[in-house]
Amino acid sequence: MSTVPSTYETTRLRDGVVSFGAHAFPHEALGDDTVVIRPDHMGICRADVKEILGSRDVPEDRGPLFGHELVGSVFFAGSRSGFEAGDTVTLNPNITPHRTTGFAEYVFVRGSKEQLEQAVVRVPGPYDGKDVWMPEPFACIVHALRKLLELTGLDSLGGKRVGIVGAGCAGLMFAMYARHLGASVTVFNRGGVRRAFAREQGILAADEIRPLSEAGAYPDAFDVVVVAPTVATAELLETAGRLARDGAVVLVYGGTRKGDRFPGGPVDVDAVRRGELLTWVDHAGKRLGVSGAYGCFKEDYEEGFRLRAEYPEAFPLDRLVSRRIPLDEFPDFVMDIAAGRTDPPGKVLVEAAPRA
Ligand SMILES: NC(=O)c1ccc[n+]([C@@H]2O[C@H](COP(=O)([O-])OP(=O)(O)OC[C@H]3O[C@@H](n4cnc5c(N)ncnc54)[C@H](OP(=O)(O)O)[C@@H]3O)[C@@H](O)[C@H]2O)c1
Repeated sequence: MSTVPSTYETTRLRDGVVSFGAHAFPHEALGDDTVVIRPDHMGICRADVKEILGSRDVPEDRGPLFGHELVGSVFFAGSRSGFEAGDTVTLNPNITPHRTTGFAEYVFVRGSKEQLEQAVVRVPGPYDGKDVWMPEPFACIVHALRKLLELTGLDSLGGKRVGIVGAGCAGLMFAMYARHLGASVTVFNRGGVRRAFAREQGILAADEIRPLSEAGAYPDAFDVVVVAPTVATAELLETAGRLARDGAVVLVYGGTRKGDRFPGGPVDVDAVRRGELLTWVDHAGKRLGVSGAYGCFKEDYEEGFRLRAEYPEAFPLDRLVSRRIPLDEFPDFVMDIAAGRTDPPGKVLVEAAPRA
């Protein structure tokens, strides 16, 4: 372990306001059951913004997500942690609530050896900071489509037509992975900025990305419809229902809250999403499967690393990065996103200050 500083810089989210400053380094936190990570890169996720706005239900077993996408190195590894200082790692925020925000110079993760083994995931191969992409959001996509295959009993999406609502980071990664699994994809996005970004970055071909307003021209067209916008509103679920053919599955991935229902029926989409269930409903004269996925496991990160390493052209995850900002600019920047003053497409990366 390098010398422990007396202070470190971190953000704080309190009452909808993000602040940044130096705080005393908590030497007492360096226990046997703790890993301290020094992030090199952090990703801004829509969930961070929702937590600023207070529009996200925070599960007690995993805690808030604010600052959960990161890649960095282990600065301190407790004697019972199973890690070593210097390991290149990323974080799985779905395991323990005993962790501090990733938008900081140091991140503290505490848990049993088994929990840490799941919560702190080793990044394979050299990581030189040039080819930067965020493993966590991709692991969630890998998890979601693997869960869909498991729930439907399919081996692949070979020959399937997959419609995706939302060309945010999630929608674009769904498109990459569904294509890799053999599907043809059509992504529908409300705004032109993300549609242009997807085309200009070479992530989607022109015929793979359509305005959401054109969704009506695709009735009963898809075997699977993924709902991946910020919030899976009743209106967007209704759109997904229209896009789906009789017998299709609607995969709900975008935000849901306690008590949300699939339009026109009793299905609790929040329970389906968080419980990763598949349930069948009668909707507008069709039989539709409604399924969901939530979070991911270490195995999903490992599959994500394998896919990226073996099929770099199918998974141009670095091209999702639209902008890089230093950590000290992050509070104003994310508050601007929360206030609707800016809404960059793709993934904004926050970079740690260069090491001395
Ligand atoms: N289930 C899971 O495990 C899991 C994991 C991670 C994230 N998520 C969910 O996935 C969501 C999307 O994440 P992301 O990273 O893709 O976010 P993102 O990059 O910020 O993209 C948000 C997308 O939502 C669209 N959108 C927002 N409001 C809309 C509306 N009223 N009508 C139509 N489209 C709308 C945006 O379209 P415009 O371009 O038109 O604004 C954009 O395509 C998150 O909010 C989170 O709830 C789920």
